[in-house]
Amino acid sequence: MNLNSLSEIANAMVEKGRGILAADESTPTCKKRFDSINVESNEANRNAYRDMLFTTPGMEKFISGVILFDETLRQSTLADNEKFPDYLTKLGVIPGIKVDKGAHPLPGCEGEKVTEGLDGLNSRLEEYYDLGARFAKWRAVITIGDSAPSGSCLAANAHGLARYAAMCQENGIVPIVEPEILMDGEHTIEESFIVTEEVLHTTFYELYSQNVLLEGMVLKPNMVLSGYACSEQASVDEVAEMTVTVLKRCVPSAVPGIAFLSGGQSDEDATAHLNKMNQILGDNSPWNLTYSYGRALQAPSLKAWEGKQENVKDAQDAFYKRAKLNSLATKGEYSPEME
Ligand code: 13P
Repeated sequence: MNLNSLSEIANAMVEKGRGILAADESTPTCKKRFDSINVESNEANRNAYRDMLFTTPGMEKFISGVILFDETLRQSTLADNEKFPDYLTKLGVIPGIKVDKGAHPLPGCEGEKVTEGLDGLNSRLEEYYDLGARFAKWRAVITIGDSAPSGSCLAANAHGLARYAAMCQENGIVPIVEPEILMDGEHTIEESFIVTEEVLHTTFYELYSQNVLLEGMVLKPNMVLSGYACSEQASVDEVAEMTVTVLKRCVPSAVPGIAFLSGGQSDEDATAHLNKMNQILGDNSPWNLTYSYGRALQAPSLKAWEGKQENVKDAQDAFYKRAKLNSLATKGEYSPEME
């Protein structure tokens, strides 16, 4: 394992002013997104959609890396038939790959899930490296409910994340460690804070136990939010303050960067929250705080695209705008009037 090269890649992924585009929707998730715009989810349409995003002129100013799905890693640009990982690498954008096999019911823990995908992972990582991937993603899903999360759910998911991360580093691939606490439900922001703190502590304990090099990874957490069905919704300032507090308590400063998921927030909220956190932390932040958004970077673009060639320019403009505003948010220079 080359520690220097892992840490170099991790630092490039979270470089100030740039962030990650999560375009790794699995085929079923992609179908859900395409259903919302009445576009059939077939291989050609998925290729065309990803091509539209990745060939947006100038996107590399704001996008440091793209998380791809297995199918996309093997697809090519429409204009030049160039493999996406090769095209992105030439552009200075690091190709990444989702390697987990999704969240499945956790036996003995009603309603809770554990992420699968460790079996055979080592050989898949070897192939992904050869295809050009230099970082990977594994997402664990935690729910907040009456008796959830259970200790067993936290332990099983943290263990999986750490085993995955260690295996990635062994293969020269930087792991994005993503323990996502879902913000669906009626829980308050205080409950979200408590669970986030517990999840992050458990995750970092397991990373330590599995000898994961913290300098060569990127954390992808949820922000601390009020549950979407909670009657009292926290303000931008509260979300930013509480998220920064929990991160300071749990994330060692050896980790170069934190790239948030958007998790169903509106695109404008996701940008405003990131901006406020960067304003609070300022230049003395222990880590670079950036984005690894899926929906919050893509939603307006997907809507503008509608699966039509004549809409590509509008769709690219919409993606460019969100990427640019989020880039400003990594420096605390965004304001809602820019919308
Ligand atoms: P969202 O930003 O849409 O939550 O997606 C990010 C992601 O990669 C989820 O695993």
